[in-house]
Amino acid sequence: MPLINVHDKSFDIYISEEILQQRIKELAAEINKDYSGKRPLFIAILNGSFMFASDLFKNLSIEAELCFIKLASYKGMKSSGNVVTSIGLEDDLFGKEVIIVEDIVDTGKTLHNFLPKLIHQQPKSMKIATLLHKSEATEFSLKLDYVGFDIPNKFVVGYGLDYDGLGRNLKEIYQVV
Ligand code: IMP
Repeated sequence: MPLINVHDKSFDIYISEEILQQRIKELAAEINKDYSGKRPLFIAILNGSFMFASDLFKNLSIEAELCFIKLASYKGMKSSGNVVTSIGLEDDLFGKEVIIVEDIVDTGKTLHNFLPKLIHQQPKSMKIATLLHKSEATEFSLKLDYVGFDIPNKFVVGYGLDYDGLGRNLKEIYQVV
C-alpha cells in the first residue's frame, strides 16, 4: 500500500477498513448485550466521531437515541485540550443512560474537562466508547468502557480524524511516518 500525503506529512495505512468495521461490530455487540432492555442516549463528539458514531449506530439492535455535540478545538498535530463549551446538547440527561462516543482519547484532557458538565445533569449512568485510545499519552484518568483499538502515541488520520482539516474522508486509519 502506498504512502499518502496530508498537508506536509506522509502517512502509512495502519488499520484497514475491514478490521475497523469488524471491531466496531464487536463493540456494538457488547453494547447490545450490556444495554438490553434499556434505551441509551449516545452523545457523539464532533467532528472526529461522525464516522464511528454512524457505523456503531448502524450495528445496534437495541433502541437507542443519538445526538451530536461539538466541543472546543484541536489544531495541528498537538492536542490543545482546552474544552471551552459544548454546542448542541438539547437533551436533558437526568435519569438517562448516556454513552459518550469519541474518535480518540489522547491525553484525556478533553473528556476529563467535559464530563463533569454532563455528570452535573445527573444521568442514570454514563459510559465512554472511543474508537482509539493512545494509552501511553493519557495523563488524565478516565474510565474507558468500550475501546476499539489501543494505539501507540503517534499521530493518526482517517475515518473521521483529521490533520488540520484534511483526511477525514479516508475509509481507513493512517499513521504518520
Ligand atoms: P485529548 O483531549 O488529548 O484526549 O484529545 C482528544 C482530541 O484530540 C480528539 O477528540 C481528537 O480530536 C484530537 N486528537 C488527538 N490525537 C489525535 C490524532 O492522532 N489525530 C487526530 N486527532 C487527534
